[in-house]
Amino acid sequence: MNLVVDLSGRHYPGNQKNVVPPPAARPHITVRGLNKSFGGVPVYSDFNLDFPKGRVTCVFGPNGCGKSTLINMIAGLIPYDDGDILFDGKTLKQTTIGYVFQNYREALFPWMRAIDNIKYPLELMGMSKADCNARVEELIASFDVKFDLQRYPYEFSGGQQQLISIMRALAPHPEVLFLDEPFSALDYEMTLFIREKLQEIFQATGTTMIVVSHDLEEAVYLADHILLLTKRPTRVADNVYFDAPRPRDLSTLSSDAFVQTKARCLEIFQTEVRK
Ligand SMILES: Nc1ncnc2c1ncn2[C@@H]1O[C@H](COP(=O)(O)OP(=O)(O)OP(=O)(O)O)[C@@H](O)[C@H]1O
Ligand SMILES: [Mg+2]
Repeated sequence: MNLVVDLSGRHYPGNQKNVVPPPAARPHITVRGLNKSFGGVPVYSDFNLDFPKGRVTCVFGPNGCGKSTLINMIAGLIPYDDGDILFDGKTLKQTTIGYVFQNYREALFPWMRAIDNIKYPLELMGMSKADCNARVEELIASFDVKFDLQRYPYEFSGGQQQLISIMRALAPHPEVLFLDEPFSALDYEMTLFIREKLQEIFQATGTTMIVVSHDLEEAVYLADHILLLTKRPTRVADNVYFDAPRPRDLSTLSSDAFVQTKARCLEIFQTEVRK
């Protein structure tokens, strides 16, 4: 049986071992006794985990280990066989979430203009037209969007489509934002821009964020916690805490704490994840 893993920061890189641990964040999402199989082959077996509230957790693990499956089950996109998932003790139905898909090309409704894609979750919530428009204007200003949102998704580049997906996910002020490899389609400049925006939004709102990433540098840069998953059958290899001050910038990448945290994650990856 897996132990419940408290993501409040059990691990510190190298010479930080003696620092006082940060105040434990309250769990926001609790996963208990989760079971999920595909075609009789288990991906998750009696899996337990807490995601802390108001923190950025980056989920890192090898291809096919079940990262997307995990966040898809938590976000209610696919069913699980058994177990309980609660948000602050509430069910998913009682919680507002946002989700940015790994495959951005299938994420937007192709028959809707970009602006209507962004408004869609707001309309579902029954928000008035005036309030929908005001929220979209706010997002346009916040992301400094220069392109015409009256156009359809196929008329945008991959990066622009992903930006629209992120705006749609943020529109309803989600309590939890899931991002499944959000930068995989973006060029470096766009990646930096969206990273900074996500960081700004996180600092302004304290939204709990769960980010799947296969890029360790990116995971550490964004994270308060890096959750390392093993190959299937999937378990938590470890979790690593990174408390560099925000806003983080390019100088963070060369700081000792960053380099040590990344090295610690790599060590866990070599010894645990690839076993
Ligand atoms: N609908 C499905 N039917 C059968 N098997 C599936 C299905 N979805 C996922 N799987 C299997 O479950 C495992 C986990 O898949 P998942 O997509 O969650 O991995 P991942 O960690 O997100 O991988 P990647 O890094 O490639 O995105 C894989 O072995 C995959 O083949
Ligand atoms: Mg995936």
